[in-house]
Amino acid sequence: MRYADDMSPGAATGPLPPARADGERGSSRRSFIRSTSAGVTSVALGASVAASTGPAAEAAETARPATARRAALPLAVTPACSGQETPASIEGPLFKPNSPARGDLITPAIRGVRLDLSGVVYDTSCTPLPETLIEFWQCDQNGDYDTAGFALRGHQYTDSRGTYLLRTIIPRDYWGRWGQRAPHIHTQVQVSGGPVLVTQLYFPDDTQAYGRDFSALNAADRLLNRACTIELAGPANGRYTGTFDFVITTKV
Ligand SMILES: [Fe+2]
Repeated sequence: MRYADDMSPGAATGPLPPARADGERGSSRRSFIRSTSAGVTSVALGASVAASTGPAAEAAETARPATARRAALPLAVTPACSGQETPASIEGPLFKPNSPARGDLITPAIRGVRLDLSGVVYDTSCTPLPETLIEFWQCDQNGDYDTAGFALRGHQYTDSRGTYLLRTIIPRDYWGRWGQRAPHIHTQVQVSGGPVLVTQLYFPDDTQAYGRDFSALNAADRLLNRACTIELAGPANGRYTGTFDFVITTKV
C-alpha cells in the first residue's frame, strides 16, 4: 500500500499540519529523551563501512557513470558553523514515535541508492552538542513510507563530539498534498530539555538516483529550503556520502 507523508486520509481537504509538533507531542518527546538517553549507545562516526553488494549496490551503480567525474573531486568541506539556526519545516502526518534506536536503516527490503549521512549538531554558539537526540524518517526507493512498521525510521544520539552517522538510502520523490515532493529526509533534533527542531533535508540539483531530475524536482517543491541541502559526494563504492550540520537552540 502506498503512503506518502502528505497523503494521509482526508489530507487533500484537511488543514495543514502544524509547523511544529503540538504541545502534547512536544512534551512527549522531551519525556522520551529523558527516559531513553541512558540506554542508547551513540553512533561512532568512524564506524566501518560495510561492503557494497546486492540490489542496493546495483541501484547505486546506475548513477555511477554520470557522476564519476564528481567522485574524482576532493570531498566537499563541511561549512563552518554559522551560528544560524537550521530552518524548521513541517513534520508531516507520518511521524511515528518510539522508533528503533539505530543509525543504520538498511534492511534487506531496502534497495535504494545508498547514502551515508553524517554531521555535527551545534548550538547557536557553535558548540557541539553531545547526547542530542536525532530522529530520522523517510520514504523508500519507491516513494513509500512504512506506516505499519519502522522501515527507514530510527533515532540516535550524538556522540561526545556532537556527531551523528546515518546509514540509509536516498529517498525518491512522490506526489502528495503539496504537489510533487522532491526527495527529502524528515528529521527532528532535540537536546535534553530544549525545544525540538523539526525540519527536512534535501539533495543537490545534480544528485543522480532512480533516473530522476533532482533539479526540476527541487525547483518545483514548495516546501524546499535550500539552506537544508545536504552536501553530497560520490557515489563511490556504491554509495553517496553526505554531510549536514544542524544548529539548534537549546532553550525553550
Ligand atoms: Fe515526506
